Amino acid sequence: MPAPVYITTPIYYVNDIPHIGHAYTTIAADVLARFHRLRGHPVFFLTGLDEHGQKVQQAAAKAGIDPQTHCDQLAPRFIELWKTLTISHDAFIRTTDPTHQAIVQQCLQALYDRGLIYQAEYTGWYCTFDERFWTEKDVVRGLCPDCQRPVERLSERNYFFRMSRFHQPLLDYIHAHPTFIRPTTRSNEVVGFLQRPLEDLSISRPKTRVSWGIELPFDSDYVTYVWFDALVNYLSALDYLAPPEGRATFWPATVHLVGKDILTTHAVYWSTILMALNLPLPRTIFAHGWWTVEGEKMSKSRGNVVDPFAMVKEFGADAFRYFLLREVPFGHDGDFSRESLISRINSDLANGLGNLVSRTVTMIQRFAKGRIPAPVTAETGQLEAELQQAATTLLQEKLPTHLETTRLEFHRALEAIWGVVQLGNQYIDRTAPWVLAKDPGRQARLNTVLYHTVETLRFLSLAIAPFMPTTAHAINAQLRLGLTFSHADDTVRWGELPPGQPVEKGAALFPRISTEAQIPTTSSKEALSSHTGQPHSTASAPPHDSLITIEDFQRIHLKVGTILQAERVPKSHKLLKLQVDLGTEQRQIIAGIGKQYAPETLIGRTVVIVANLKPAKLMGLESQGMVLAAGDEEVKGLVTIQEPVEPGTQVK
Ligand code: MSP
Repeated sequence: MPAPVYITTPIYYVNDIPHIGHAYTTIAADVLARFHRLRGHPVFFLTGLDEHGQKVQQAAAKAGIDPQTHCDQLAPRFIELWKTLTISHDAFIRTTDPTHQAIVQQCLQALYDRGLIYQAEYTGWYCTFDERFWTEKDVVRGLCPDCQRPVERLSERNYFFRMSRFHQPLLDYIHAHPTFIRPTTRSNEVVGFLQRPLEDLSISRPKTRVSWGIELPFDSDYVTYVWFDALVNYLSALDYLAPPEGRATFWPATVHLVGKDILTTHAVYWSTILMALNLPLPRTIFAHGWWTVEGEKMSKSRGNVVDPFAMVKEFGADAFRYFLLREVPFGHDGDFSRESLISRINSDLANGLGNLVSRTVTMIQRFAKGRIPAPVTAETGQLEAELQQAATTLLQEKLPTHLETTRLEFHRALEAIWGVVQLGNQYIDRTAPWVLAKDPGRQARLNTVLYHTVETLRFLSLAIAPFMPTTAHAINAQLRLGLTFSHADDTVRWGELPPGQPVEKGAALFPRISTEAQIPTTSSKEALSSHTGQPHSTASAPPHDSLITIEDFQRIHLKVGTILQAERVPKSHKLLKLQVDLGTEQRQIIAGIGKQYAPETLIGRTVVIVANLKPAKLMGLESQGMVLAAGDEEVKGLVTIQEPVEPGTQVK
């Protein structure tokens, strides 16, 4: 029986409407939950709302309503967003749930009874925004070290949790468990934070200052500090929102996904609270980075808050989900822009996956009477073995590795999937079914090619299902793949798809989005050179309306080449070092196509080369030519020749 998996998101403050930051963590959690369910793990995926504390109280006061009404009004917005983004959470917790409140009180009482909570007078610098005290040495020029807002001097009697007692045990634990806090850089930050003395934690607020909270079970003049209340949600949900035996089955959590800004509260406060309660710590706390918007911090005052509802309405949930996880490694900060979203949709989704699906369905309709044809063993060779190998390794090795909860390399998982998408498209280019279709003697080969293309899409549907569930279902329906997207699919084997099923063309999965309005038309020279790593100067580009003679054009020697080797240029995201066979010679070409193409997917690919370009040095490496590609700022596709043509053949 596969191990139970418990995945959590932070519970979001209901002081505002949901934005891209909330969507990001929840989408990542959803991908993980779906991935593990497909593999037969019992999964509990929890998200919810943090409804107490000063922020919510203030937001309600601003709206002129009582806090509970405020929460009840905003909660449906979050629930609606999760539906819109096809989030498959198993439970939705609200910290105003009476059972949650009772469990928080039980935890507090248990710590109080054990002498781990005491009352004391405390004077410190208080940040209202972060709802916490800072010590003298934390405060820089009167500002909160976290949010940079002014802090105020406050003296208050409060209840304190003896967090300092767990200082050394926590450090020891982190050192003994290298995958407890991920990524490693964040773990180092926490260890750095723990080099200074760890003070006791104020876990109460006097009702005179904050009234919207859970009353302390041992003093009715106080409410619980919102973070203590909120963190306990990870446990309390297991007691009343999970299947029976929830805590026994799912605790410790497999992974808490959090943003980098709330890592300390999780890694330090939550861990020490759990230690004090004699409970095991979560296996991993994974901190992701933050999104900026077109280079700027996202904020209401800047008016640049990305509304996930609007994104889904315009581009669809799957495209938005894909973009967020493909564009930026999960632990890193990233920048959101409409332009990069559109560029990904056009290059990866429309040209890549969408094209593969639509070509396949169309060819089966044209060349196989609309039914998936049966393959013929004698016609199955090296190319098919390559496809099978790549698709099988993807499902069995690459995805499980990249999606390990201690790694969470969503972008690499998607890169690996799109490697197979490209292989599928190349397979069609190389086998050229439209040529086979002209020769009745080659029907068996044609059938074999079409069958293997569908098999590729069957494996791909399973691979993308956690990321893009709607698309996976649509491909399954168009090609009648018979997938259930449940644990039953876990045993898929290449070649077991029964032939004979009728296919049905559906709407384009990802219609190309026109960018003409946003991107100025480039001159032909820019279009030629922009993607190949060759430095290009727009200064010498001819004006749009200038014409060249045939002699001008003939000065450019274009040749067909086959890519023999491809590897990344160290320290560059964009550049690939290619070895290209030009028939009589081999050239090294440094091409700026590394963002769009994984090197291994380029091997064997037929490309068109500018063969008489003056060699240039890029990052210290000589480039002896240029690969032609379509696109403007971003490469959209490589120029290729459909028919089998000898390397070195002239292109004119
Ligand atoms: N209520 C607390 C969490 C309690 S968990 C026991 C909270 N809520 S929040 O609504 O303010 O933030 C929730 C999450 O949104 C955090 O993980 C935060 O990192 C994330 N993000 C907020 N803005 C973000 C971006 N611009 N980009 C990415 N994530 C961001 O904190």
